[in-house]
Amino acid sequence: MEGAAALLRWYVDNGVDEAIGEEPIDRFAVPPATATPVAPPPAARTPTPLRPPPAPSAPPLPRAPVPLESPQLVEDARALAEGCKSLAELETAIRGFDSCALKRTAKNTVFADGSPDAPVMIVGEAPGADEDRLGKPFVGVSGQLMDRMMAAIGLTREGGFYITNILFWRPPGNRTPTLAEQGMCLAFTRRHIELVRPKVLMLAGATSVKAVLETTEGITRLRGKWTSYRLTDGTDIPTMPTFHPAYLLRTPASKRQSWQDLLAIDKKLKELGPK
Ligand code: URA
Repeated sequence: MEGAAALLRWYVDNGVDEAIGEEPIDRFAVPPATATPVAPPPAARTPTPLRPPPAPSAPPLPRAPVPLESPQLVEDARALAEGCKSLAELETAIRGFDSCALKRTAKNTVFADGSPDAPVMIVGEAPGADEDRLGKPFVGVSGQLMDRMMAAIGLTREGGFYITNILFWRPPGNRTPTLAEQGMCLAFTRRHIELVRPKVLMLAGATSVKAVLETTEGITRLRGKWTSYRLTDGTDIPTMPTFHPAYLLRTPASKRQSWQDLLAIDKKLKELGPK
């Protein structure tokens, strides 16, 4: 029993914290999806199989899963997102989108919170366990820090800022999402930004900055410097890359820099006037 508990703890520590099927799948026994069997040349010695073939009475092997993360799915997400004419349509489309593998393990779709008419739109990374449980972005400890930071420049979720993430589903065990998972969600996030048309866009954390701005430049170089996000009609939205609050919780000395970023946002909002 102690051994089983230790094994479970090891799984959780290594990010295996979700059961996604009733039965385990022996991946070694699943035939490759696309491999065409090549007949050995007549003289070749038949290699000894690593595993004996399944006994005739064995249940059928599970079918190899179709890879969901294909460029076509990213394209489908983009077409679906572009067809959405309002935030309500976008939310419905995201909630009904079943092609992103992350959705299979998440408890909830985490869309957005705050007022879409607010001057600032914040785009974070991905829902964590608290957000997954409650279906709202930034409600855990880093979200609470984000709320306090924004309140320091007079902005709250009630009219001051609108908040979302580049991913709408929690990656199991907070693993790094695949590029295709990011691509699918990002297609919706780009439409999200188009529909909200904030006065100022704030990108919280390296993953969000890299994905939204399509850059490989690190957050430490980019944070605190205004850049712009161009909408499809050519409008440039002033955009501020900044540290993620989870990083600030681990590295409190960096809060000083984030405060400078917030002051820059406050100044920009005053320059731009009402939305
Ligand atoms: N971190 C994020 O980037 N987003 C959340 O919603 C919560 C934590």
